[in-house]
Amino acid sequence: MTGTDAVSGFGVYLHWPFCKSKCPYCDFNSHVRESVDQERWRRALLADLDHAAAKSGARRVTSVFFGGGTPSLMPPETVAAALERIDALWGLAPGTEVTLEANPTSAEAGRFAAFAGAGVNRLSLGVQALDDAALKFLGRQHSAGEALAALDLARAAFARISFDLIYARPGQSAAAWQAELDAALALGPEHISLYQLTIEEGTVFHGAWRRGELVMPEEDAAAALFETTAARLTEAGLPAYEISNHARPGGACRHNLTYWRYQDYAGIGPGAHGRLSWDGAKHATRQHRAPEPWLDLVERQGHGWRQVEAIDAGQRLAEMVMMGLRLSDGIARRAFHDELDSDPEALLPAEKLQRLAGEGYLEIDAAGLRATAAGRQRLDALLGYLLA
Ligand SMILES: C[S@@+](CC[C@H](N)C(=O)[O-])C[C@H]1O[C@@H](n2cnc3c(N)ncnc32)[C@H](O)[C@@H]1O
Ligand code: SF4
Repeated sequence: MTGTDAVSGFGVYLHWPFCKSKCPYCDFNSHVRESVDQERWRRALLADLDHAAAKSGARRVTSVFFGGGTPSLMPPETVAAALERIDALWGLAPGTEVTLEANPTSAEAGRFAAFAGAGVNRLSLGVQALDDAALKFLGRQHSAGEALAALDLARAAFARISFDLIYARPGQSAAAWQAELDAALALGPEHISLYQLTIEEGTVFHGAWRRGELVMPEEDAAAALFETTAARLTEAGLPAYEISNHARPGGACRHNLTYWRYQDYAGIGPGAHGRLSWDGAKHATRQHRAPEPWLDLVERQGHGWRQVEAIDAGQRLAEMVMMGLRLSDGIARRAFHDELDSDPEALLPAEKLQRLAGEGYLEIDAAGLRATAAGRQRLDALLGYLLA
């Protein structure tokens, strides 16, 4: 497996929806506010945790993830209070992975020790680029030097660190990306997330791209960058365990594995999704997305859920395949049995499985079902065909 055991995980995701500024490429649920009523937000997040625990019943938490937005803007006391409440409600398993996403500005790096003191043991740093001109283009608030300084401070405070880079940027040559990647690897990460820049509807970049002011790399060039990235990372001892995520053995993000292995997680805070089982059924939960209406809703009804529905077997199969084929290890046969009481051959159309295997995109064997490297590179098309 991926250097982590496949023991059933149960994660808690907590969304902090605020950022100092909005990056022009980002369509995450992130908003800029002049001030945030920290006391109200803390109370609401704790109430939302109480509600999720009342629904899920007794579970042991194996991972917590503070995502955003920019959770490194959270008061460390709110992070501490959330972790204490999670422990009181469900119990934190020994060695629970607790990740916080951080932006590498000096102001935020100055609070790393306080986050560690609150119980965070893994930091995911949004470095994005190691080049000042690229950081400016991406609308970031930090320089490459500040990111490196933040990384040093993070190393002193946390046992585990990951950082994100965005590549396949307009005008970025293959040679320039290789050099940036080599510089990133020289920093000795145990985990690194490498995302190809995507143009998301509703972002500033989307408008610029539509007006022809932003020229994205051609599909072939982007595919070539993806392949050289994978090869370089494998050579450096951090093979991809998921499409965009690379780790040394044992360094995979346990929390994200919980999603990809289609295990349960509670989604707390505005816009957060959850997959939570109770009364023998797995449920999809979705929170109200806009921050202030979410806060009002929690204060009125005790939680921010806007939608909750039991997921039928067909939908569970589709979700499990969509998530699991992102992983290099794919989906264990055991997982099909645990979730759907059957084998993948009985659940998925035989002629499609055969065709995808014959064309070198899919493998199915005693261990389970997985997409090959070629399959993972075209995963959307593969899933569109397999699940149609
Ligand atoms: C929730 S965001 C980041 C958290 C943190 N606020 C930050 O910016 O560092 C998670 C990651 O998604 C990536 N990302 C967001 N939008 C993207 C896009 N349009 N294309 C590629 N990567 C993107 C970035 O690398 C980012 O670090
Ligand atoms: S990339 Fe990060 S900092 Fe930028 S707007 Fe999105 S969530 Fe906020």
